[in-house]
Order: sequence, then structure tokens, then C-alpha cells
Amino acid sequence: MRNVKKEIAELLAAQVESLTAEDIEKLIEIPADPKMGDYAFPCFRLAKVMRKAPQMIAADIAKAIEPNALFEKVEQVNAYVNMFIDKQEFARLTLSAVCEQGAAYGNTEGGKGKTVVVEYSSPNIAKPFHIGHIRSTVIGASIAKLYEAIGCKVVRLNHLGDYGTQFGKMIVAYRKWGNKEDVEREPIKTLLSYYVKFHEEAEKDPSLEDEARETFTKLEHGAPEETALWQWFRSESLKEFSRVYDMLDIHFDSYNGESFYSDKMPAVLEELKEKGLLQESQGAQIVDLEPYGMTPALVTKSDGSSLYITRDLAAAMYRKKTYDFDKCIYVVASQQNLHFQQWFKILELMGYDWAKDCVHVPFGLVSLEEGTMSTRQGRVVFLEDVLKRAVEKTREIIEEKGVNTDNMEETAKIVGIGAVIFQELSNYRIKDYTFSWDKVLNFDGETGPYVQYTHARAASVLRASAGSAQAGTDPELVEGAIKAFDISNMDLRYICGDAGYELVKLLYRFPEVVADAADKYEPSVVTRHIVDIAQAYNKFYHDERILVDNEDEKNAKLLLTYAAKQAIANGLALLMMKAPEKM
Ligand code: ARG
Repeated sequence: MRNVKKEIAELLAAQVESLTAEDIEKLIEIPADPKMGDYAFPCFRLAKVMRKAPQMIAADIAKAIEPNALFEKVEQVNAYVNMFIDKQEFARLTLSAVCEQGAAYGNTEGGKGKTVVVEYSSPNIAKPFHIGHIRSTVIGASIAKLYEAIGCKVVRLNHLGDYGTQFGKMIVAYRKWGNKEDVEREPIKTLLSYYVKFHEEAEKDPSLEDEARETFTKLEHGAPEETALWQWFRSESLKEFSRVYDMLDIHFDSYNGESFYSDKMPAVLEELKEKGLLQESQGAQIVDLEPYGMTPALVTKSDGSSLYITRDLAAAMYRKKTYDFDKCIYVVASQQNLHFQQWFKILELMGYDWAKDCVHVPFGLVSLEEGTMSTRQGRVVFLEDVLKRAVEKTREIIEEKGVNTDNMEETAKIVGIGAVIFQELSNYRIKDYTFSWDKVLNFDGETGPYVQYTHARAASVLRASAGSAQAGTDPELVEGAIKAFDISNMDLRYICGDAGYELVKLLYRFPEVVADAADKYEPSVVTRHIVDIAQAYNKFYHDERILVDNEDEKNAKLLLTYAAKQAIANGLALLMMKAPEKM
């Protein structure tokens, strides 16, 4: 797509000796008041170099620039050069790009040739996959899509929490009180109940703790019986997680979790020792991070067993070797900030310059209206239950509202699950938020259902345009006809009124917004933008008649309708959401 800001910067650069087009591009502003033009160039910075009042500089530049097809007017106001864009040309270049790129509209190439590893979800096996896990899962999956959209090769990893002393406890508990059928029927709830029981019993009989420790050591040394049990817990848990991942349409290239790195740990410890970074402290091994204002990092325990942080070091080294990443993104709760700061620093101290390419993307807490969750006390809300309930509630609402759909089940699923994801990705990730059913499923608020409904509304306009004879026509046919319009010769004044042009501007910005979201690791930037597009389309729909008799007018408005629909669908896809044709 043509980059309007860049074109302006080049025009300006021809008049300004002391700045390059790139410098100018960075300085260009978008005035809040449209009377001040679409873009404005402030001349304050030039005043020093040119030893002239900024107003005068702006006046000279404005005089020197020749308006062209795209820039109908250039004006000086105070220290600014204000540029006015020809609305029809701007609409033309925007809508041409949407038609040409279709489902790829929004994609750019800034990340071409780069490999990005995104690690997300990473639940602990044999523990509930609860509503809290939705955050890393959904934010991470969206970030992966954003990086693909800017042209990167993306590797998706699930760093399963499948290792640690708790598996010693689980094995002991299973042997004492467990039962195979229960585990197979309901793996996680059952395994969790063993874990809870273990803690209750260990209060009375502390020797259980020793037994668990010994059992874990056996597991660490590869004892066959313990390994087989652990394998089984792992695969049963993964089956349950996979059900949820399928519901969310979220997938991974690898489920290599913490256990995968257990045999890679001795080499890491050896290297730390060689590089003089290890210190003894009460039988345990630590890396002193005090000079960097952090508490020491414990890398092995006094019994020699390895730790979470050591596995992260081993994992990072393995990933660098395996994927040769340009960036490795960790989507993990902000409670683990210190953990990541610590081991990023250790990598740096080990002399790995790529430590700077490891990025922790933190996020805040999700709480429930009913209060906080507690695994130990059994106050958990399973993510699977939330998703199922969302689908059920959506079905009720659809029935009540008499929503138009060919496939109730499918629509309830797309809208219900989408609603949960959308709410999750609506706020800045770092903010804590409270999960609220009312907010999630509100069809009129700034919600997933609202945006999906707007998409379906645009689809229905396009269907209607094909005439009643073809009602129910395949959307690809209807849209194919629109994409075949000769846009360069269309009269687009009909979509350059207030409502239409507002929408055009949002559509133009969509690719920038996607790239910006990737840059900030912030899917909510996309979420908000597609809400804006949906609101702008609905305003256009209410303010204007679309299917008018005048062919030129009708076609221009259909073109805009198609473009809005396509951009909404593309935005939803970046949030792992589907865009229904009917709703
Ligand atoms: N399994 C961990 C947890 O549930 C999250 C893992 C985060 N990733 C990492 N590389 N440390 O808290």
C-alpha cells in the first residue's frame, strides 16, 4: 500500500536541507482538529539550525510545495505546515489496497527474514487449567499472530510445567490412595485431589515429605516405574489441556516443557562454574546478583536437585541453538518479573549477547467477581467450564433475540468463545481485571459479539446487494464482484462524507496498528481498533442509505462495506476469532 506519511515526508524533505525524509517522517503529527489538515509538520526544530522564526520557516515551506493529486492543499498555521489530503484519492488508495490484499490486508514486511519464538500458556500439568491461564494462552497466541503479520517466521512453544518436587508428592499420593480409572476419567481434578490429600496427610505425618523428595530424586535419575507414572500423568493432563486449546483454536509447535531440559542442566551448571559465576551458600549453589540490585539466584538446591531458573537457562540456550531466534518472547505473569530479570542477567553474565533478544512480556491478574481463586481450597474456575458456559449463554441470547443464523451450534461457539477471548484482549495486558459475564456477552458494548455482529451486518448488506434472486449467495461471489470494480475510475465522493471518511481513515491505519501492536506486544491495540472500525461502520450504516438507485453511489458504498468487513475479519483473526457471515 502507498504510505501517505512517507510521501509527505519526501515532499517536505525536498524543501528542508537539514533533515532527511526519515527524520521528517518521525516529526509529522496528525492534528487533533481536522481544520488543521490531515498531517502537520512542526518547524520548531528547524528554527535553531536555520536561525529563523519557525512561523517563517513554515510559511516558506508551505509556499514552496506544489499540491499534487494526493495533496490538495498546503497551509501554514503558526509554526506548522498543515497538509490536506484529497479525500477521494486517499479513499481510492486505501480501498484498492484492501481489495488487492483481501485476507492479507494488515500484513506488512518489517519482520521479514526474522525468526521469533513465542512461549505462552505453559501450564503446570496435573494442576487445574483455570481461568487464570487464559491470559498467557490468549495474549501469547495473539502475539504470535501479530509477529506473523509483520512477516516473521514464528515458532510457538508451550513450556509445560511438567517437572519438580510436586511430582514426587503426586506419585506417593497415587500409590497410597490413587485409582487408575479415576485418573483416566477426569485426570486433572483427580490428580489435584491427590495433591490436596497429600498436603492434608503430610500435616499429620511429615515423613511423607521425605518420601516425596526421595521419589522425585528417583524420577530425576530416570527410575523406570516413577518415570512411567509421571509420563502417564503428563499425557493424561495434556489430553485435557488439548481439549481447551482446540476450543480456543490455539496451537503449538512444541510442548517441550521443563522436563525436556532436565538432562541439559548439568552442562549449564558446569558452564556457570567455569565462568566463575557459581557460589556455595549453605550447601546450595547460587549466582550472586547483588551488584545488579537483585536477590541471589538459587540454581541448585542443597540436595543437588535443579530448579526452575536453571531449567529456564537451559531452555533459552537450547532454543537459541535450535531456532537461532532473533527474538524469544516469554508471555508470563508479572509475578515472575524478578525471575526473568534474574536469569536474563545471568545469560548476559555468561557472555551471551543474545540475552538482549529475550523479552519477558508480563501481564496482570484476572480475578473473579466472586473473589480470588485458591487451588488449595478448591476455589478454582476451570477454563473449560467458562468456555462451555459462554457457549451456552450465547445460545440462550441468540434464541431470545431471534438472531439470524444457519447453524446455531456453530454460531454459539464462535460468538461465545470469541467473547471470552475478546474481553481478555480488550484491556492493556499489564492491567489487572475482573472477569464479568455481563461485560463479556453484551452485544452492544465494546465486545466481541458487537464486532462480530457488525461483520455479519456488512455481510448481509453485501448479500442484499446481489439481489433477492441471489439471496444466500456465496460471499466469495458477491465480494469477487466488488473486488473486480475498476476502483481507479470510481466516483468515491459518496463515501467521503463525515461517516464514510472516518471509516476510510481507520481502514488506512489498520496495517500500522497491527505493526504497532506487534512492536508493543499488545494485542489490545488491535482489539480497540476493530471496535473503532465497527463503530464507524455502524455510524455510516445508520447515517447513509447504501443500496440506493444511483449505481455509482451504491457501488462506492458497497466497496466501503466490503473493505470494512474484510478489515474486521482480519482483525478478528489476529485475535483467534472467526467472523460470522450471519448473526
Ligand atoms: N509453568 C509456569 C507457571 O505456571 C510458567 C512457565 C513460564 N515460562 C518460563 N519459561 N518460565 O507458573
